[in-house]
Amino acid sequence: MTLEFNKQTTDELEALCKRYPKREAALLPALRLLEREFGSVSEEGMKLVARLIGVSPATVYGVVTFYTHYRRPTDGKFMLQVCATVPCALKGGVSLYKHLSGRLGITNGQTTPDGVVTLKKVECLANCDNAPCMQVNDWYYDRLTLPVVDGMIESMRAGTWKPVRMGYNIPKHKYEPVLLKHVLEKDSETIAHYLGRGGYKAAEKALTTLKPADVIDIVKKSGLRGRGGAGFPTGTKWSFVPQASPKPRYLVLNDDESEPGTFKDKMLTERDPHAIIEGAMIAAYAIGSHDIYWYLRGEFPLGAKIAQQAVDEAYARGFLGPNPCGTGYRLDITVHRGAGAYICGEETGLLSSLEGQRGNPKIKPPFPAVEGYFRCPTIVNNVATIASVPLIIANGPEWFRKWGTEKSPGTMIFSVSGHVERPGLFEAPLGIPLRELVFDLAGGVKGGRKLKAVVPGGISSGVLTPEEIDVKMDFDSLAAIKSMLGSAGVTVLDETVCMVDTLWNTLRFFHHESCGQCTPCREGTGWLEKILRRIENGHGRPEDLQLLLDICDGMVGRTICVLADAAAMPTRSIVTKFKAEFEAHIEKKRCPMKGAAAPQPATAGAH
Ligand code: FES
Repeated sequence: MTLEFNKQTTDELEALCKRYPKREAALLPALRLLEREFGSVSEEGMKLVARLIGVSPATVYGVVTFYTHYRRPTDGKFMLQVCATVPCALKGGVSLYKHLSGRLGITNGQTTPDGVVTLKKVECLANCDNAPCMQVNDWYYDRLTLPVVDGMIESMRAGTWKPVRMGYNIPKHKYEPVLLKHVLEKDSETIAHYLGRGGYKAAEKALTTLKPADVIDIVKKSGLRGRGGAGFPTGTKWSFVPQASPKPRYLVLNDDESEPGTFKDKMLTERDPHAIIEGAMIAAYAIGSHDIYWYLRGEFPLGAKIAQQAVDEAYARGFLGPNPCGTGYRLDITVHRGAGAYICGEETGLLSSLEGQRGNPKIKPPFPAVEGYFRCPTIVNNVATIASVPLIIANGPEWFRKWGTEKSPGTMIFSVSGHVERPGLFEAPLGIPLRELVFDLAGGVKGGRKLKAVVPGGISSGVLTPEEIDVKMDFDSLAAIKSMLGSAGVTVLDETVCMVDTLWNTLRFFHHESCGQCTPCREGTGWLEKILRRIENGHGRPEDLQLLLDICDGMVGRTICVLADAAAMPTRSIVTKFKAEFEAHIEKKRCPMKGAAAPQPATAGAH
C-alpha cells in the first residue's frame, strides 16, 4: 500500500521545508510527522518521506537507522527506556532494567507478545539526579522503585496508565542564583512572566543602541566561556565569523545535552526558554545572522514543546519575525528535535544532523564559524551559554566578572548526581572547590559512607580521587590535573562502587555512541569495552592494564572528533588511579566487590 500524508500534515511539511536552506534538511522533522500520523516509521513511510523530501529511500533508511528514537512498526504501545548509564547504574538502574526484563519476559529492544510494552536499555536521559529513572513514551519517571514500576506495568496492561509530570531538584544553598533565579517560579516559562522580570530589554538595548562589534566586545570582556563542554571563549568564537563572506550566516543553539551526569540544559529549556530566545536574538545580531536553529535532544519532547510555545509567543509579541524591537532586522528561530545520538552534541555532528543526515562529525578545519551549516559561516553555542548573554548585556561585563576566576568568570550550573545526600542542580561561582560542592552544597556522601571517587565534568572527564577534591571547579584548574570541567556534570561514587565495573559501563557508553567513521574510535572503544568486560568477569590477564593504556595512546588525537579522546580520558585515569583494584580482579579471577549487593533501586521513593 502506498502511504500518503493527510492534507494538514502535507501543509505542515511544506511549511517546515521553507524554514531550512535546503529541503533535505527537513528530513528529521518529516520523520516525526510520519510517526505522528502513522504511529511509527515503516519502510513504506520511509519511501513516502524520501519522495516528499527529495532524497533517496536509502538516505532515509540510513538516517532512521543511525538514530535510536524513531518508533518502528514492531514497537509496543508503551516504550520503556530504562537508563543504565553510570549515574543511574550507581542507584540501581541496571537492576531496574533486569527486573523489568524478567517481569516482562523480553530483552533489550523486544516487545511483549500482547504488543503493550517495548523495553529498551538506554544511555543517559539527562535526569541523573533522579536516578534510577526511565522514559515512558514522552514522559520521565524519577527515583523509581520496583513496586512503582510493577504498578506502572499493571496500569499499562489495564489501560489505566496516566502520565505524570515530574519536578526539579534545585536545592537552596549559600550562593545566590543568577541564571536559576526564577526557574522554580510559577509560569517562569511564559513570556508574561519573562517580561514581568525585565525580559527582552537586553535584546532591545543590543539591537537598537549597539553595533554588532560592540556586542561582541562586551561578551569578550565578560570572559564568558562555553558551558557545553569545551569552555571556548564565546565572544572570540563569534569574532571568527568572516565579515566579508557573502554567504548567509547561521546561529545554532546546541540543546543536545547528552553528556552523562549533566542535566542543566533540559531544565533551562523547560523553565526559562525566553532567556535562551533573548540570548539567541543578541548573538544572531552580533554575528550578522538572521536564521537561528534550536537543536534539541530527541529525548526532550517536553522541552521541544515548551521551546516551540515560547518561540510562538516571541513571534506573537514581535520579538521574532521581520521587525524585532522595531529595527527591521529579521530574526527567525526554528525549533528542531534530534532523534537520539550522543555524537550530535559535537558541533559538526550536530550540523550534519541539522542538514538531514546521519550525525557524523566533519573534519576540521575549516571550523563551523567559517564553513558550517551547508558550508556557510555558523556559530554553534550551548543554550546555557546563550542564556547568560542577556544578563551580560543588561548588566555589563564587570558585573559578570563579580563571580568566578580571572580566566573562568561567572557562575556555572553544576549538575550533581550519584551518592550524595542532595543530588540536583547547584549554581555557584566558577572556581568553587569541589570539596565544598560535594560536602557542603550537595550534603556530602549519602549515608555517611566514605568517598571513593568523583567524576567532575561528565563521564568524558578524568576521574578524581578523594585526595584531589580540593581542586577548584574551573576550566584551567581541572585541566591542570588532567581532567576537565566539561559540562560540569559531577558524579559522586562512594566506597561500595567497583571501579572496574564503572569503567566497563563508561566504555559501553562510548562504544555504543561512536559514529563509526574513524577506525581508532570505532575499534578502540570496542576493544576497551571488551577488555573491561573480561576483567570484570574474572578473565583478565596481567598484561591487560598496559594494553588498555596502549589502546588509549592509539586513539587520542587520531580521529575526526574527540569522542575517542573522551573514552580514553576516564580509562587512563581510572586504570592508573585504581590500579590495585584492577589487579585484584585479575589475581582473584573475579570481581572482589561481587557478593556485596549490586546497586538496587530504593524500596520506597518519591511516588
Ligand atoms: Fe541516567 Fe543520566 S539519566 S545517567
